[in-house]
Amino acid sequence: MTQMLSAATFETFAALLKKRSGLVIGPDKIYLLETRLAPILKQEKLRDLIALADRLRSSNAEPLIRQVVEAMTTNESFFFRDDKPFQHFRSQALPRLIAARPPGALFRVWSAASSSGQEAYSIAMVVSEFRPSLGDRRVEIIGTDLAREQVARAREGIYTQFEVQRGLPIQMLMRHFRKEESNWRISEAIRGMVQYREWNLLSDLRPLGQFDVVFCRNVLIYFDQATKTKVLEAVARQMPADGLLYLGGAETVLGITSCFAPLPSERGVYGLAGAATAAKSVGDTRTARSLA
Ligand SMILES: C[S@@+](CC[C@H](N)C(=O)[O-])C[C@H]1O[C@@H](n2cnc3c(N)ncnc32)[C@H](O)[C@@H]1O
Repeated sequence: MTQMLSAATFETFAALLKKRSGLVIGPDKIYLLETRLAPILKQEKLRDLIALADRLRSSNAEPLIRQVVEAMTTNESFFFRDDKPFQHFRSQALPRLIAARPPGALFRVWSAASSSGQEAYSIAMVVSEFRPSLGDRRVEIIGTDLAREQVARAREGIYTQFEVQRGLPIQMLMRHFRKEESNWRISEAIRGMVQYREWNLLSDLRPLGQFDVVFCRNVLIYFDQATKTKVLEAVARQMPADGLLYLGGAETVLGITSCFAPLPSERGVYGLAGAATAAKSVGDTRTARSLA
């Protein structure tokens, strides 16, 4: 049942979520607060959201704040989601990178809101098809997410029957997973290709280093315009001039930043544009060194 929340109580949650994760919620999302935060109310033996809001304003609330922020994230993900980006990655991005980088080079691919790991493991499965043509080039795949629980799930690499039935071709299931009771465990070979880390896209991205390819999909949709701009521009700074960005089906850079431009006739794929590319001609020597 929807509670009568005072404007002040609603604002406590809305402001906290926006500041900590970028998530923007309007008053029409009170039901979402209720359903997602119900387990926390139970755990903390709190009567309602008003009591939880009071608790969040008290000292030493940090662990609880973290729990609330995580509980409000939407972690829906599946293998080879939307397929198109992975087709492009397989048929265009990887062959182009292999041709452009010398033997011995390191490519870095980032799944920037990796949730329970399906996106980063899908990338790893595609990369594994390229072993013969990679020669001694190495590929590092990093998955990051704000939600600690999701990062732990991703690292574990165990998926339900339902999860492996969503988007994963049967040949890939047979090749890269093994059945473990009612679940499926990803092979050590694929699991070992991905490193997962907790990381907030609103925080400093520089310690993560440079990425040749970034999948930043189905996360910007939760942010307001200013946050989308901030995040995309920070992501652009982590990419070399020939880097590629994949966004989700409902996301775009248009009207948000001029750092990226859509690739002609490719939906959801972006390259660095204009000023961002020019700035990189200086930065590229540093990039090349850090990739060596
Ligand atoms: C809907 S999932 C998308 C997963 C995957 N990229 C895909 O497209 O299937 C969105 C993920 O973004 C994460 N997220 C939300 N805000 C974030 C932030 N500020 N920093 C990092 N991750 C965030 C959530 O925890 C969630 O796992």
